[in-house]
Amino acid sequence: MTEKQRPAPSFPAIRMRRNRKVDWSRRLVAENSLSVNDLLWPIFLTEGNGVLEPVSTMPGVHRRSVDEAVRAAEEAAALDIPVIALFPFTPTGKRDATGSLATDPDNLVCRATRAIKAAVPNIGILCDVALDPYTSHGHDGLLAGDVILNDETLEALVAQALVQVEAGCDIIAPSDMMDGRVAAIRAALEAAGHTNTQIMAYAAKYASAFYGPFRDAIGSSGALKGDKRTYQMDPANGDEALREVALDIAEGADMVMVKPGLPYLDIVSRVKAEFGMPTFAYQVSGEYSMIAGAIERGWFDRDRVILESLMAFKRAGADGVLTYFALDAARLLKA
Ligand code: PBG
Repeated sequence: MTEKQRPAPSFPAIRMRRNRKVDWSRRLVAENSLSVNDLLWPIFLTEGNGVLEPVSTMPGVHRRSVDEAVRAAEEAAALDIPVIALFPFTPTGKRDATGSLATDPDNLVCRATRAIKAAVPNIGILCDVALDPYTSHGHDGLLAGDVILNDETLEALVAQALVQVEAGCDIIAPSDMMDGRVAAIRAALEAAGHTNTQIMAYAAKYASAFYGPFRDAIGSSGALKGDKRTYQMDPANGDEALREVALDIAEGADMVMVKPGLPYLDIVSRVKAEFGMPTFAYQVSGEYSMIAGAIERGWFDRDRVILESLMAFKRAGADGVLTYFALDAARLLKA
């Protein structure tokens, strides 16, 4: 027998399987847990009444009119999901070069926010700050030639954040990746007396192909000219994410987020370890659709893969996950 083949001297005194032998023991030694308190549910909005329109690239996900969004919020609140995140579908005809609908206090997001706040006061409302649902070119900022203008965009983002907060939004989530936007929004919120509005910064947001289905859901996919690589991060980089997060914290973010999720769990883990901030991850549309598509074909055990994918975020150190599976997961966790 060679050295390598010889059993470890402690075997069988050490048997890793002892702790795994029965359910109560597995539960006893579990290092992490997943609960409904970890879930943030993104939903898509559309105009109309009684509208529940399937998003073709996201099996099981719908765009909802405001009344249906209120029903969804009621369902989420009944399951104790802490936060619902609102994303508007905007048809081509309502988009323009500057995304002016973003700052209209009567836009779809603001109307839905008011309606949900009135009907379901006990759920947190998160609103994205970025111009892409409203621009004709599909970019998150103002475009001059082929350049996304940073400082000029900040003004629009601040105005967008303010109309959303005035409509009742609890958590402002800048997803645009312009430099200095958290500071600009924080200063404007303080100046306007909105001292308790939380900011969850999309701090480390990558230029990712996994957003494909989302862009379809909000009506941006046909619109987008080029890509977002001059403002979103290069998937090759990890250290840079820590610099992004440090800046957003210094600028006044209350919570930070990493996006996408599962392919970027190394970043989630580093961010949590480095800063100890409330740290969130976004299981984005493409991740959802990969899993949901495989479930639909019968390739995955639905309940198990949903919970396993979400537990992975907890193990990496996330305090919560934005996930299109939130309602399904909450039902499973409550059962
Ligand atoms: C807007 C925004 C995007 C997502 C959230 N906010 C898309 C993008 O940056 O192109 C993606 C969410 C998802 O894919 O589920 N800036």
